Amino acid sequence: MKTTITIALLSVALPFAASLGYAAPAADNWENECASCHGADGKGQTKQGKKLKVHDYTDAKVQAEMKDEEMLKAIVEGVKADGKERMKTFKEILSADEAKDLVAYIRKLKT
Ligand code: HEC
Repeated sequence: MKTTITIALLSVALPFAASLGYAAPAADNWENECASCHGADGKGQTKQGKKLKVHDYTDAKVQAEMKDEEMLKAIVEGVKADGKERMKTFKEILSADEAKDLVAYIRKLKT
């Protein structure tokens, strides 16, 4: 019984590890939090990505149109269009450093 409680508590506490200073590598965060829409390769050719018409982040033109500050803002605050949520906020999931690392990670997806 005690073990069950400990495990239950751990599974609640782990998602908050980010705010406690544990930073996961950007590649892991991308895979776990972002790839379902943006694709592991950043092309956005996933079922959800196609539905949401995400941009192809391997495209140099798309990359040129994005500003680092806007990318960071999108990751921290999420993306809304016409008042509707397109991408959720990752404020509670990622630390500020992890969000910054992801911007750098996305920049490297350019082909
Ligand atoms: C539910 C699907 C979904 C998930 C999950 C998701 N995104 Fe997005 N994201 C979108 C959509 C939709 C847009 C808006 C269209 C676009 O710019 O491609 C967007 C836009 C962006 C932008 C572009 C902002 C700009 O300046 O144009 C960045 C950067 C971004 N996402 C990064 C991420 C990162 C990093 C993660 C993971 C932590 C993530 N996204 C997770 C759907 C998602």
